[in-house]
Amino acid sequence: MALTYTDYQNSAAYIREHIGFTPEIAIVLGSCLGPFAERIEQPVEIDYRDIPNFLRSTAPSHAGKLIAGTVCGKRVVCMSGRFHYYEGYSFEQLVLPVRVFQCLGVKATILTNAAGAINLAYKPGDVMVIADHIKLYGGSPVRGENLAEFGPRFFDMTRAYTPELRTLALDCAKRSPLTVHEGVYFYFPGPQFETASEIRAARILGGDAAGMSTVPEAITAAHCGMPLLGLSVMVNMAAGILETPISEEEVDAVGRTIAGDFSDYVSDIIERMQV
Ligand code: HPA
Repeated sequence: MALTYTDYQNSAAYIREHIGFTPEIAIVLGSCLGPFAERIEQPVEIDYRDIPNFLRSTAPSHAGKLIAGTVCGKRVVCMSGRFHYYEGYSFEQLVLPVRVFQCLGVKATILTNAAGAINLAYKPGDVMVIADHIKLYGGSPVRGENLAEFGPRFFDMTRAYTPELRTLALDCAKRSPLTVHEGVYFYFPGPQFETASEIRAARILGGDAAGMSTVPEAITAAHCGMPLLGLSVMVNMAAGILETPISEEEVDAVGRTIAGDFSDYVSDIIERMQV
């Protein structure tokens, strides 16, 4: 059964009651990016299991809790652990986090993820500010009855990744030791990594990084007019670029190596965001 507007409001009401403030910025932490949660001051944690209508996080290295608190003087709510289509959820179920953020009164969302580099000029450890995405797989998170309280039936995607936030993220990159690009995220549903031919095709079509998340949340954010920043961390070269097969261990190891610099970078963006 699809959730109603009241269901999303009830989830938000539970969270608001537990954290006792209205967060300004929501952050979704991707695979291996969990250490950012340590930057949250005066943290209040809520287990996803305790939030009405919430989903469970089953992916490895996703903690499954909501952490609210302060980062660089801004009130934030952070999802440590996100939901993916490959876990068995339908696209329609993946609207949940962003809709709950919207009901909470959040003014902007930052989506982070670990991705494979398709662009041959990128290397593991680099970051990509998402300019746009390509999703060729059927299904949409906002398929089915339209909840007009969130947005219209048909809506624009050309500004889904808010231009001003992209500019800010690229500006913050000048103060970071990370190499930061701007590019196009190519969505694959997973959980299998891609074939070499799929990655070659994605490159021809204009993809710079391949990943299994973020796009359902980005579509939901565009639907409800939520300002959005998407950041991808390259944790491997995508399939077929190197001789070696892609392994989960490699992906985790690169994620751990850059977690500190990435957390600094995201904190700097949060500090300079005007919400
Ligand atoms: N492809 C898709 N998703 C990923 C990858 C990849 O190569 N690396 C990390 N997440």
